[in-house]
Amino acid sequence: MKGVLLCGGTGSRLGMLTKITNKHLLPVYSKPMVLHPLHILLDAGIKDILIISGPEHAGHFLRLLGSGKNFNARFMYEIQDEAGGIAQALSIAKDFADNDNIAVILGDNIFEDNFAKDIKNFKTGAKIFLRKINDAKRFGVAEIKDGKVVNIEEKPKNPKTNYAVTGLYLYDAKVFDIIKRLKPSARGELEITDVNNHYIKNNEMGFSIVSGFWSDAGTFDSLFNASKLIMEKEKKTKNAL
Ligand code: G1P
Repeated sequence: MKGVLLCGGTGSRLGMLTKITNKHLLPVYSKPMVLHPLHILLDAGIKDILIISGPEHAGHFLRLLGSGKNFNARFMYEIQDEAGGIAQALSIAKDFADNDNIAVILGDNIFEDNFAKDIKNFKTGAKIFLRKINDAKRFGVAEIKDGKVVNIEEKPKNPKTNYAVTGLYLYDAKVFDIIKRLKPSARGELEITDVNNHYIKNNEMGFSIVSGFWSDAGTFDSLFNASKLIMEKEKKTKNAL
């Protein structure tokens, strides 16, 4: 299993905060945001990780994270030239993946849980991680029937359930053929939700429910909230020592 950390996009929802830097380099409590999802991959024992960012700040990611030596891993870097969606960014990882399974994580997703077991046990198809939240309309929303995910709607006006699709995805090598056949959505992007619906149709989608906290950090409120959650987690860990 290899890891792909997606740090593209313009961060437009964060206004002036992303005028001179990349969203994923902003602080989430004690660390730059990207360190949090990076540790999800590292803590699952993944040693080869590709970091994809836009051209403007790629050098800053390199300076922050380096070769991976300090993390006991190997890091590679690729550039997404234009913000064309998560699936478009992922397509850049094809050569790096080299037919291996991949764990893909969005650089602005902050989780409390550890996913080592899910990642180690993953064999084929795809797997997503769902979190029950109050108002899911800002996310991909999963519909579940008879213990299976039957459809995902991207940012629906009226969500059918409270199950948000989090930004951690496990895929086998078929993902790259699926992306090749995707058409851009109404907002002109190749959507990761379309990739996932493809696996669902092929009856190859698994899922787990995330129980610990989860937040993205792409809006003022969620960025603030993510910092608060990490602060509480770090204090709990410190007190337990
Ligand atoms: C993306 C995905 C969405 C998912 C979310 C998780 O949305 O398109 O399905 O629920 O990440 O953070 P974005 O926040 O990039 O618009």
